[in-house]
Amino acid sequence: MKKSSLTRRSFIKETSAKLAGAALAATGTGSLFAGVGQKAEKLAILGGTPVRSKPFSSTWPIFDENEEKALLKALRSRNWCCLKGNVVYDFEKELAKAMGATYSVLSNGGTTALSASLHVLGVGPGDEVITTPNTFIATINVICNAHSLPVYVDIDPDTGSINADLIEDAITEHTKVILPVHLAGFPADIEKIMAVANKHNIPVVEDACQSVSAEVNGKKLGTFGVTGCISFQEWKSLVCGEGGAILGGDEDIMRRCAAFVNNGRDPRKIKGGYPYPGSNHRMTEFQAAVLTEQYGRFKKQDKTRQENGKYLEEKLTEILGLKSRKRYCDNTRITYVEFELDYDKECFNNVSASRFAEAVRAEGIPISGGPRRYGKGCHKEGMLQEHLNSHAFQAAFSKARLEKYRESLSHLPVMDNVTPSKKEMLSMDSKIILLSPRKDMDEIVEAIAKVAKNSDKLA
Ligand SMILES: Cc1ncc(COP(=O)(O)O)c(C=O)c1O
Repeated sequence: MKKSSLTRRSFIKETSAKLAGAALAATGTGSLFAGVGQKAEKLAILGGTPVRSKPFSSTWPIFDENEEKALLKALRSRNWCCLKGNVVYDFEKELAKAMGATYSVLSNGGTTALSASLHVLGVGPGDEVITTPNTFIATINVICNAHSLPVYVDIDPDTGSINADLIEDAITEHTKVILPVHLAGFPADIEKIMAVANKHNIPVVEDACQSVSAEVNGKKLGTFGVTGCISFQEWKSLVCGEGGAILGGDEDIMRRCAAFVNNGRDPRKIKGGYPYPGSNHRMTEFQAAVLTEQYGRFKKQDKTRQENGKYLEEKLTEILGLKSRKRYCDNTRITYVEFELDYDKECFNNVSASRFAEAVRAEGIPISGGPRRYGKGCHKEGMLQEHLNSHAFQAAFSKARLEKYRESLSHLPVMDNVTPSKKEMLSMDSKIILLSPRKDMDEIVEAIAKVAKNSDKLA
């Protein structure tokens, strides 16, 4: 076979995807497209042979007899509530240590972890919390449920995260907290956010619910702000069905958070009775028993995901038109809870990410493609109008403030106008897929390369 004089990287980078197909035919393989042989040339979606015939595992959560034993042990102990048992409290210590936080408090969910943080920081009627419209609704629910306004800062078109450069302009005398969200294992621009917050002496609560164990400059997400919240709900990468944690370093704030989730009890047991405000958001011993076992498993899974994720990213970004998501800091550790690559349809004969993904799925790879954001955005959700019209909000805010706030909701040009066709991505539920053996990663690369090479046939 005639050998190409071009290196694989320079070849793929310098040649448009459309030309790539023709050039490869002329120069032979030996490239990323090596696996895309004659037999597999025809796309499966057009009647060809799929790259992979065996389905990927979709088993999640993963458990074995260790979780079963831990659950039975908790059951038989008859200490089902953490007020009697010690599984919850033992895991709090383990988690704090693992995350590099001074304290951790477990709760029954990421939402209640966020609620506790806002409550302890005094967020209430008439206040404002700066956040992003591009998040899961739980972030916004906790702000509104405290009868305060979620002040939306537009997103960075390159990442979908809050645009840290716009935060300063959104600060007012009413700003109580800045609440950035680390989406799908990708850190927001947390160092810049902290610099702005520190300059104005405003506390930051990090919503790291989707990003457990991600890092910036060797520091775990959730440990930058005055508190950081994680979720162990089943979609995440460290799970126990439902559950959450608050991380933090301030003794008084964290004591109050612990009290808040435990009906106001003093966690140090120094003050008797119910000295602090609170409610019951406790995690059960059953959840903590599963979580403790899952954490051991998570450490190994996380390592495998890192290895496979980096491998896939390196291989796939050799294809012109597929790019890694921008990192705000060179020393960033993403978690690969979702594997996401930016997709530029111009490099694929204007085939939409959704159609491209459909073709890759036909090759046997579970992938999706589409807009790189959280639907229409939380600022457009009906719940917000319900809150604004509620008795509580009418009592907490003047008519003029609510009017001005309503107007502000239409000033999010990037969130509203960076159309899906301009900013699209390919995405895989990689918390499961990246646990597969390396040869499966090669099949993912092969399938995507095959569709890239033949994208003109999908146009
Ligand atoms: C960004 C974000 N914040 C908060 C939460 C709430 O976490 P939980 O479901 O554990 O209450 C989630 C859960 O999906 C989330 O994705």
